Amino acid sequence: MRISEAARLLREAGISTYREEARRLFSHIEGAPEYTLIASDPESTSEAFAEAVERRCKREPLQYIIGEVGFYKETYKVTPDCLIPREDTEILVDYAVKNLPRGARVLDLCTGSGCIAVSTVKNLPKSTALALDISEGALSVARENAEKNGVSHRVDFILRDVLSDAAPSGSFDAILSNPPYVKDSVYPELEAEVHREPRIAFVGGEDGGDFYRHITKAYSGSLKEGGFIAFEIGYDQRSLIEDIARAENMTCEVRLDLSGHPRVAILRHKS
Ligand SMILES: C[S@@+](CC[C@H](N)C(=O)[O-])C[C@H]1O[C@@H](n2cnc3c(N)ncnc32)[C@H](O)[C@@H]1O
Repeated sequence: MRISEAARLLREAGISTYREEARRLFSHIEGAPEYTLIASDPESTSEAFAEAVERRCKREPLQYIIGEVGFYKETYKVTPDCLIPREDTEILVDYAVKNLPRGARVLDLCTGSGCIAVSTVKNLPKSTALALDISEGALSVARENAEKNGVSHRVDFILRDVLSDAAPSGSFDAILSNPPYVKDSVYPELEAEVHREPRIAFVGGEDGGDFYRHITKAYSGSLKEGGFIAFEIGYDQRSLIEDIARAENMTCEVRLDLSGHPRVAILRHKS
């Protein structure tokens, strides 16, 4: 199959970025650098290419087919056991890397692929992290990602239900979390690819705030003096998170993404 034929099939399946994705899949299967595929239309005789295109036409996320994704300065393995790390979450990691001291101790709640804990620790000398998730499948991908990025000796992963298990012992310079935050009623409307990712990675209760409320209440006592909680938030959750911070007598600073939408909330105890 030629790249042009793959692109046509992807377009007919409703994939708007069909040309780029056809090249990505070809490059992945044939090992050809993508820049060599822009002005040519080579043919792959590999069954694997046809199969990859077919999977993508069935709206399986490209990253699961390729098996990895770039995030911050690292590369992560991804499988259907974990959420695919998103660009939005890089804002949270960047805040942590630029605002935490060397040797910081970090707690990553709802770690998924491990991207927040691993990229933070990898880019912050001598720092360490404890990362929790309720999914054993996700944790096993996260452990591989810590290994792949050379920080497995600095990140511990443990199976925990963040909503009902007790907070871990110890104190932390920062609690970082991209928890499930989609409103239950909105989840069914999300695009087809999202429904191939684990449902528990998304749904955050009636108003999407279950994890924010619980983590702020039950975990803020684990912060060291001067420490902060950094949450990823949805574009429409600014007032929700500000109310939650106020109820716990904490300050709340909201950072915007490049489109100007609220994306990260930083909560600190009032001094
Ligand atoms: C939005 S994903 C975030 C994954 C990763 N931190 C990231 O930013 O790509 C949320 C994660 O929360 C986990 N999760 C859902 N419910 C949980 C619970 N009650 N306790 C702990 N983790 C939970 C899911 O397994 C999923 O990995």
